[in-house]
Amino acid sequence: MMDAKFLVILALAASASAGPLSVQESDKCSETCTDNGKFKYNPGYIYSYDYQVDTATSMSGASEDTAKLTIQTSADVEVLGPCEFALRLRDTRLLHSDNAGHMKAAHREEQFRRGVEASELRFSFQNGVVAQICSGQSEDAWVTNFKKGILSSFQNSMDDLTKAQNLTETDVAGECRTEYKLVSDGYYSVSIKKSKDILSCTER
Ligand SMILES: *[C@@H]1O[C@H](CO)[C@@H](O)[C@H](O)[C@H]1NC(C)=O
Repeated sequence: MMDAKFLVILALAASASAGPLSVQESDKCSETCTDNGKFKYNPGYIYSYDYQVDTATSMSGASEDTAKLTIQTSADVEVLGPCEFALRLRDTRLLHSDNAGHMKAAHREEQFRRGVEASELRFSFQNGVVAQICSGQSEDAWVTNFKKGILSSFQNSMDDLTKAQNLTETDVAGECRTEYKLVSDGYYSVSIKKSKDILSCTER
């Protein structure tokens, strides 16, 4: 029996890097834009996030036979204009556990890195929700799916950032039961834990 565990960590690392930009009308990913400013993302800025997925697969009853796989990447989210965002990846790593349990570069790491870093993915972001994605160039389905996972973590559909909430969240990966919990609510920052029940997802 296989038992897979996933852990996704998305942390805001640093921001800043500006420059005025304009998006051509015909080049837009969002057909409409209804943003109430829940998140104060500034057009012309790039926001950087650390993204990590840890997967452990083990055969039941043989805990020493656990295979681990880790994907790390830096996700740069550029705000092109109201509701117009672009995702680019860099410093991508693909690591797996060897026989001794140490993490080392996977054989396909370079191929994986080139695949996911090759092009940017434009998306429409409205009130914390990734409303649509627009992959311009022909991108392999596995690359787009990987980026959908990142955008799914980036999304926050809470009605109020100061109140815990359970909801069925629809994102680019499907419709899943999602719980938002307030970890801390300070004067300068709010820390929110988002948990998604993957087994509850439909319409994937
Ligand atoms: C959300 O669901 C969890 C578990 O089902 C429960 O413990 C929690 O109190 C709920 N939170 C809210 C805000 O309803």
